[in-house]
Amino acid sequence: MFRQLCTFRVHANPRLHILPAVVVLFLVFILLPNPYSSDVQLGRLFAVSTVQPRQAAANATLGFQRLIALSSKPSWRTRGLQAAAKLTGLDFTIPPQPHNPVEFVVAFEDIGLGQTTTPKHGSASAWVAHLDLLKFVIASGLETAFIVEDDVDWDVRIKDQIKLISDNVRNYTFVPKSDPTPYGADWDVLWLGHCGGAIEDWAPPGVIYADDTRIPTDSYASWSTGYLQQRLPEGHRMIHVSTTTVCSFGYGVTRASAQKILTLLGRGADEAFDVALSHHCRERELRCLVVNPQIMHHYEPSKDLGYVSPVDSGDGEGEPVDEAEFEFIKGKTFNIVESARCRALFNDTCA
Ligand SMILES: *[C@@H]1O[C@H](CO)[C@@H](O)[C@H](O)[C@H]1NC(C)=O
Ligand SMILES: *[C@@H]1O[C@H](CO)[C@@H](O)[C@H](O)[C@H]1NC(C)=O
Ligand SMILES: *[C@@H]1O[C@H](CO)[C@@H](O)[C@H](O)[C@H]1NC(C)=O
Repeated sequence: MFRQLCTFRVHANPRLHILPAVVVLFLVFILLPNPYSSDVQLGRLFAVSTVQPRQAAANATLGFQRLIALSSKPSWRTRGLQAAAKLTGLDFTIPPQPHNPVEFVVAFEDIGLGQTTTPKHGSASAWVAHLDLLKFVIASGLETAFIVEDDVDWDVRIKDQIKLISDNVRNYTFVPKSDPTPYGADWDVLWLGHCGGAIEDWAPPGVIYADDTRIPTDSYASWSTGYLQQRLPEGHRMIHVSTTTVCSFGYGVTRASAQKILTLLGRGADEAFDVALSHHCRERELRCLVVNPQIMHHYEPSKDLGYVSPVDSGDGEGEPVDEAEFEFIKGKTFNIVESARCRALFNDTCA
């Protein structure tokens, strides 16, 4: 046997054996059940080159390292959020929110008093909560995170929408093919959930792309509908630099930008967190990209049933009723065609 092999070797051209030998060794390496060929190793070997950025964007955390919900306590908000997340294959982290003493919030409220606009009490509480969540992102050492408010809603087709956002953010910011990340790194805020964004002439032009899941303009309920009428064809969305965007329903941040936002917005002295964020975006102190129209909007229980938002009640604009009064009756999500919450909770749309 040994001799035969030797003879074989001697008589054959040794070069011809290198390739088959390498192939056999490789197969042995990947197929044998030894610790060096576990699924994880195989995944590392192949995944790096095969996962497209747009596919990564459509994972359970929308291509961010974490999806994080800002939430003060379990309620109809978090129950609906989790139901919608389950339906659409998303995975949210809901960190416990620190309770700040009222004196702290009041002190924050009064920064800049008499010199500039200051937030009312409910808006200041919500603002400080966003700052606390940004601190959580920083302290957790996350590379990227997407932050939502816990009453947020989205379309059941969000995974299709986010793939297009990945394609177009990458295109818009000239992300090289060699960079496998879903959105590149040339932004501080990726503002995907809001209640209106201006498309202004003086700003750099955006990139327009087809997305047939978009709400028709005449059904779009926002202060910014006029911009869609003038600047955006039906069935299309736009990625553009944010000049004026309102409502912080959902926004992406990076390790570096979370600190930048905290530094700028931790100084208070504006009407609310979202308004201050919008101002810093407009001043170009933050590089903010917005998708227009938004892919996330908040769900609102029926106001007829006595629902009052915590910000409004904190601002002194009404007392909320018990959530049992409205939780099981369908509310509304403006601007989202096929609401994930309403599909999950009521098997219906929320329009
Ligand atoms: C989704 O993709 C991002 C970016 O590649 C990654 O950081 C994150 O861990 C992924 N999420 C899941 C749940 O695999
Ligand atoms: C990138 O955007 C431009 C318009 O700004 C468009 O012409 C081009 O087709 C886009 N490329 C990709 C790969 O989407
Ligand atoms: C949801 O509604 C559709 C029609 O609108 C119906 O066909 C389907 O059976 C319903 N699903 C459940 C689980 O009730």
